Amino acid sequence: MAQQTVLVTGGASGIGLAVVQAILAEGWRVVVADLNAESLERCKDSLGPNGDSVRYEPMNVADEDAVIRAVAACEAEFGPLTGVVNSAGIGRDVPALDTDVELFRRMLEVNLIGSFVVSREVAKRMRERGGGAIVNVASVSGIAGNRGRVAYGASKGGVITMTRVMAVELATIGIRVNVIAPGPIETPLVQEMHTPEVRAAWMTTVPQRRYGSPDEIAGAAVFLLDPRKSSYITGQTICVDGGFSIAGLLDDVGVAAAMPA
Ligand code: NAI
Repeated sequence: MAQQTVLVTGGASGIGLAVVQAILAEGWRVVVADLNAESLERCKDSLGPNGDSVRYEPMNVADEDAVIRAVAACEAEFGPLTGVVNSAGIGRDVPALDTDVELFRRMLEVNLIGSFVVSREVAKRMRERGGGAIVNVASVSGIAGNRGRVAYGASKGGVITMTRVMAVELATIGIRVNVIAPGPIETPLVQEMHTPEVRAAWMTTVPQRRYGSPDEIAGAAVFLLDPRKSSYITGQTICVDGGFSIAGLLDDVGVAAAMPA
């Protein structure tokens, strides 16, 4: 099959880094794009020599001009992009009534508009070549109303809707656009955000009773990128969440015992 070349934003840490590793394991090429120069350096060290399979691209997805320049440079110097994974994101848990507009805007700028601009710029080029795959990373907080996530959840809900609109508009030119909605995944972002109380709360709502690993998101991302596996899938939200989004009551509340014999 033709070589894939995938741009991964937020690729230097957590879910993005696991996606980068999974892409390399497929024998594909990857652009690791990230805002954080230190993480990019650490990523370089951890991935080791990969010949011409990896390009490291400092990129702030919230800076439209910088994204346009970076995508152009990647295509000119590294080759045509066949896929994108938008994993760059920020999170904060703040009650709605304490959320100021600045925080809300920042969340939209990075998580939603950042994913949009990267997708738009790459899709314009994919259009010329007749196809490609875009995978966004939203969250179960973009589907359900999780406390403290008014800004974060709204940004991720926006990513899900954006995915559907782009999937519809780009379907006939061969570009598939899908979105992964992770549940709680053990990454640096979560290690910073999740207190012991937050962790305990998730354990009462996730049927598998555990956090996911970044590799479990990466598997879904590679599936959605790979036209051999997902060529008829577009506009879909794949929840990788240990069952969180489909769960009802989790604990045994004695219903069976109360039923008449
Ligand atoms: P992480 O903090 O480990 O990685 C995020 C990466 O994005 C970092 O390397 C950071 O430098 C980069 N980044 C942040 N702002 C950026 C910007 N403006 N431009 C370019 N890069 C930027 O976080 P994690 O957990 O790997 O999250 C990845 C994505 O998954 C995020 O979109 C997050 O919202 C989403 N997610 C994570 C969940 C989790 O439980 N870890 C659950 C649901 C969604």
